[in-house]
Amino acid sequence: MMPPLPRMSRTLNDHALSRLVDDLVDQGWFIGEHFIDVALCQALQEELQALAATEALTLAGIGRGDQHQLRRDIRGDAIHWLNRESQAQRHYLALMDDLQQQINRALYLGLFEFEAHFAHYPTGAFYKTHLDSFQGRANRIVSTVLYLNPDWPVDGGGEMALYASDNEQLELARVLPEAGTFVCFLSDRVPHAVLPTRHPRDSIAGWFRRNASLSGRVDPAR
Ligand code: OGA
Ligand code: MN
Repeated sequence: MMPPLPRMSRTLNDHALSRLVDDLVDQGWFIGEHFIDVALCQALQEELQALAATEALTLAGIGRGDQHQLRRDIRGDAIHWLNRESQAQRHYLALMDDLQQQINRALYLGLFEFEAHFAHYPTGAFYKTHLDSFQGRANRIVSTVLYLNPDWPVDGGGEMALYASDNEQLELARVLPEAGTFVCFLSDRVPHAVLPTRHPRDSIAGWFRRNASLSGRVDPAR
């Protein structure tokens, strides 16, 4: 059993939210430092570490359904899908539900559901440049990442790099995976990578999806 969470708001800060919406419209991505309460990040990281200790993480692959394959030369993280089993998960999912409503209200993206997994990158792991969904067949619409490591060293590697949609060589931003930092971006527009990490690195990657039948294509099981 995890210790109870301290009292925390179940909605996001209005000011931070309006910056998020503006950045998503203007540039297709948003980076928010101190966006999520560090006490929640700590509880989530403890849960991820407990999952790792009981071997409840699985090596992440690429591709869905029949296309799924392990490619350690492309991505090196181990994951566990969020399933609402802890208070910390339920709290984070409540915040993402608030975000979904705010984005729909402002941008009419028709976001319908949110799926997310814990991710642990051991020392040396990386995730090469990729898109989270492909134009036209997308039902992942907005990608999110929350970082969980407190006091990430500036020379610790493991940054997420964001690249221009029309030029994957052109780096637009680099994000230190520091607890509380939250990033989101348009899933089919922003190529991104996790640079090789020099420390064990913990995060939650998530995606707001459109209803599969609305996007004209049934998404195979993950
Ligand atoms: C992903 C991803 C980025 C990160 O899981 O698809 O791009 O910084 N993660 O962990
Ligand atoms: Mn990604």
